[in-house]
Amino acid sequence: MIRVENLTKYYGDVCAIKDVNFTVHDGEILGFLGPNGAGKTTTLRIITTYLTPTAGTVYIDDLNIAEHSNELRSRIGYLPELNPMYAEMPVIDLLVFVASARGITGRRFKEALGRVMESCGIREVLHRLVGELSKGYRQRVGLAMAMIHDPEILIMDEPSAGLDPNQIVEIRALIKELGKEKTVIMSSHILQEVQAVADRMVILNKGQVVADGTTTDLMAGFEGKAQLTLEVKKATKKSIQGLATKFTDIQIQVDNIKNGAGILELEYPTGQDLREQIFGYAVESGWVVLEMSRRQARLEDIFRSLTVEEGGAHA
Ligand SMILES: Nc1ncnc2c1ncn2[C@@H]1O[C@H](COP(=O)(O)OP(=O)(O)O)[C@@H](O)[C@H]1O
Ligand SMILES: [Mg+2]
Repeated sequence: MIRVENLTKYYGDVCAIKDVNFTVHDGEILGFLGPNGAGKTTTLRIITTYLTPTAGTVYIDDLNIAEHSNELRSRIGYLPELNPMYAEMPVIDLLVFVASARGITGRRFKEALGRVMESCGIREVLHRLVGELSKGYRQRVGLAMAMIHDPEILIMDEPSAGLDPNQIVEIRALIKELGKEKTVIMSSHILQEVQAVADRMVILNKGQVVADGTTTDLMAGFEGKAQLTLEVKKATKKSIQGLATKFTDIQIQVDNIKNGAGILELEYPTGQDLREQIFGYAVESGWVVLEMSRRQARLEDIFRSLTVEEGGAHA
């Protein structure tokens, strides 16, 4: 289990993250979601021990990473956001190099190579130059480098950035597959990306955690509004007013009715379904309902409302 406790990081006067808390359970794929500049990379670099926090601690299985960085580095694989790779090197040489830096040589390297060739799907490009690979394959090679020492934890910073739609589908499938065996943290600034692969998500905004939970948890906790649009004929002013009087939870957002005909937009709290009552009222009042459509709050609305620019600096 990874426990992130009260992490704070200042770059000079700039507060990148403040009091960040979350946990990742063994075998879980955690989506770390937030707009650009939210502090994702900063947090991930601290967890991987490449950056020291200003305050706060990360524990991996109750080991403080500051005190056990050498041991813990061998248990973590990290795919950085901008993965620098030597373009003129063949893939195989790059893997030999990364492995030997971790003391993996000889027979152990052969075993490790066999493992990452399979799990990352790079067998066919082993002898190609890194610079000649597609972005999708380069990302797979990056993953192979991150996994050469068979870490139990895999941390990926925006792994699908810059990939085309087909490559994105492939890398998602690969991450899901790897997630069956490993504890994974994957960051992204795109909700759909996280939704597609993660069991749970932590949403970061301006350096602070603003939400933590499964899609269902987040939807349930969201105090949103359901919207109902009606296109009607024969609706009198009096009967429209009567609707809001009869159902106190309903607000009329838009009343575009002229000579009894037009559009009504109603809003009421999510968690209730008032369609039947509203339809019943319309029939009773003699309206002709040409169309009725509902728009539920979606996870996208939640993400947008949690990460909306407020214009204020965070400190
Ligand atoms: N080396 C740095 N020096 C100064 N400010 C930085 C540095 N790295 C990141 N920042 C700032 O910290 C904040 C968080 O950045 P980052 O962790 O890269 O966010 P994300 O990965 O979510 O885009 C941003 O405001 C960014 O400008
Ligand atoms: Mg980043």
